[in-house]
Amino acid sequence: MKLFDVYPINPIEIVKGVGSYVYDATGREYLDLYGGHAVISIGHSHPHYIQRITDQLNKIGFYSNSIEIPLQKQLAELLGKVSDKKDYQLFLCNSGAEANENALKLASFYNGRKKVIAFKGAFHGRTSLAVSATDNPKIIAPVNETENVIFLPFNDEDALEKIFAEQGEAISSVIIEGIQGVGGIRVANHSFLQKIRSLTEQYNAIFIADSVQCGYGRSGKFYSHDHANVQADIYSMAKGMGNGFPIGAISISPKIKPWFGELGTTFGGNHLACVAALAVLETMEKEQLVQNALQIGRYLMSELKGFDKIKEIRGEGLMIGIELPEELNQVKKDLLFKNHIFTGEAKPNVIRLLPALNLGKKEADRFLEALSERLRSYK
Ligand SMILES: Cc1ncc(COP(=O)(O)O)c(C=O)c1O
Repeated sequence: MKLFDVYPINPIEIVKGVGSYVYDATGREYLDLYGGHAVISIGHSHPHYIQRITDQLNKIGFYSNSIEIPLQKQLAELLGKVSDKKDYQLFLCNSGAEANENALKLASFYNGRKKVIAFKGAFHGRTSLAVSATDNPKIIAPVNETENVIFLPFNDEDALEKIFAEQGEAISSVIIEGIQGVGGIRVANHSFLQKIRSLTEQYNAIFIADSVQCGYGRSGKFYSHDHANVQADIYSMAKGMGNGFPIGAISISPKIKPWFGELGTTFGGNHLACVAALAVLETMEKEQLVQNALQIGRYLMSELKGFDKIKEIRGEGLMIGIELPEELNQVKKDLLFKNHIFTGEAKPNVIRLLPALNLGKKEADRFLEALSERLRSYK
């Protein structure tokens, strides 16, 4: 049997990871500023993480949501504390798309409406409604096409006001990444997020903060939407939550009341996923990783501003986009194969930095030197 060939892959086999470094089968070391697509939050093979998962595996790995799983309550309590949302409610699932799917569905259950506002450049996942709210027609199958999703220009307050004035009573939810990831590291204006908050409040629509990529401390605040001082009704999360262990979740405002059977999952909230997520939050607290993301991110951004060949630097904390001119489209590849540094990308020519939140200054400097070398090598 062959693999279903959907991924363009680099010819590198990673067999080991420690902190912000990964190693291939020949023993070559790479600096990992990609974190397997923003997933590695506390670093590869963190000892506390390994210990927690190993201990749990020696007890029990899985049982379904039909029994008491105190680890879920511990996770809800700690997440409530760290994210400063103690009165919110936690629903656990397995991925980012699933988190958004549940968020959109829950909003519709709440207000009985059908229309979803999403934005140009958005990526919310590949399941049915999440993909329909994703601005990429290529990955929307005919069966997922719907008139219920309305795309508006990102950061356009007038367009938002207009749609609410016209269709406010039909709008169920507005879903927005605080910083668009796949869209090329585009930061939502604070006033735009505040406008979404006031209009959704006014029209009884639900504000969904997609925090799958920009959340969980990556931006230097727990949720990137916190930079704008707004409280969303639902936060969706995944990626950094389990440091590689598949887990997703939504954090739900107390105004949304649950009923038995409203949402459900077989694997979501299993014992192993919960300890992985607990280990991540415990480490984030103990090692002050949100603060580190803010500091190292600021350092990187300010140094990068001195590079004259860069078109634009965007982002917050350790979610950084470096937009390069079209003719420098080899840089990402050369960073990987010549400097042995993993980075992410976005179209048309943006290098995305999504490293572990405990990235050190030494690693940041290694990247800055490598990028400077790369940029000098092209005339
Ligand atoms: C902002 C955002 N939302 C949702 C998703 C989907 O997450 P998953 O791939 O875990 O389904 C992603 C994945 O890249 C994402 O970046």
